Amino acid sequence: MPRPPLPFTAPHLLAPMEGVTEPSFRDLVLLRNEPAALGGAFTEFVRVIDRPLPRRVLARHLGARRFPQPVGLQLMGAELDALAETARRAVEVGAPLVDLNFGCPAKGALRGCAGSAVLRDPGQLERTVRAVAKAVPDRPVSAKIRAGYDDAERVEDLARAAEAGGAALLTVHCRTRAEAYCDEVDWTRLSRAAAAVTIPVCGNGGVRTHADLARLRRETGCRLAMVGRAACGDPWIFTGTRVTAAEAARFLLDYAQTLRSLGASAKGAAGRVKQLLVHWTAGGLTGLDGAQRASWLRETDAERLLARLAEAEGGAPRSARNPELPETHGEVLAVGRGRCPAAGPVPAG
Ligand SMILES: Cc1cc2nc3c(=O)[nH]c(=O)nc-3n(C[C@H](O)[C@H](O)[C@H](O)COP(=O)(O)O)c2cc1C
Repeated sequence: MPRPPLPFTAPHLLAPMEGVTEPSFRDLVLLRNEPAALGGAFTEFVRVIDRPLPRRVLARHLGARRFPQPVGLQLMGAELDALAETARRAVEVGAPLVDLNFGCPAKGALRGCAGSAVLRDPGQLERTVRAVAKAVPDRPVSAKIRAGYDDAERVEDLARAAEAGGAALLTVHCRTRAEAYCDEVDWTRLSRAAAAVTIPVCGNGGVRTHADLARLRRETGCRLAMVGRAACGDPWIFTGTRVTAAEAARFLLDYAQTLRSLGASAKGAAGRVKQLLVHWTAGGLTGLDGAQRASWLRETDAERLLARLAEAEGGAPRSARNPELPETHGEVLAVGRGRCPAAGPVPAG
């Protein structure tokens, strides 16, 4: 069955990241990267257990603000009826695309036979994609996989299963579940997946710089490329703009201010800012090769951290709202919950 066309405005996408790519961070990134540079983004994964999720929960993940770039709603679950009905509701509340998570290595997902558990069974992956694609015939459905469960031997089978199920796009995170977030990446697995199917493949894993985005596509034959953690450290990675320390500090202050306006404490907001500072490269804020990173991360007083950022921005903390920010982001999602590790197992993707 022909699938609706992909709505992306450019071939470079912001990865779904639990506790990071909720509207308050995502909107700031979308505001700073024009549609010709950043083609789209995703919500963090939304877990469907045994019954369809309420529309308000899905709307909250999508956020109040709309951009030229689409924001796909990512679902994860093993109960196909509940997943399919949730996808229907996601479309009703405005999701331009439904993405399915087959990469989450968290124990909860594995116990529920969802996320990366499905990587052991291409047939189950195909059935899951088919059930959702059938439920939302007017919207593209995409699948996001890791290259395998324990090894990458069957990456072609997994790619073909996604295609056979009716996926309009396949994203491949080149690490296996077993490899978690190891530093070394093997992009030949992306080439293998891209060669095995005719649908567009989006390559993901280990993009560190703006130049890597084009390099990944060139070297692997993937039509799209996706950035995860490097976008936490440089939200301008899609345009390749080299920002000043003041602009970099402003991003982090805007983020903190948005979180505070949604009800986060200074401590909660500072914790989320630190989560980005772990990866931060933009504007030289963390020094050459991150030499000053530790001094930011050591700051235990939330107000002092924010005051230091204001100083780096070149002014006092702004009391007025940033006019760029939307009136409302809806309910705050998971303030203080997120994490964005440099390496090591994390409970998602
Ligand atoms: C904190 C964090 C949360 C993540 N959450 C999700 C998620 O909700 N859904 C998903 O498909 N992948 C998730 N991932 C995986 C990323 O989307 C991406 O595949 C991974 O980080 C590899 O890309 P990178 O090397 O550019 O970071 C997460 C990764 C991190 C670091």
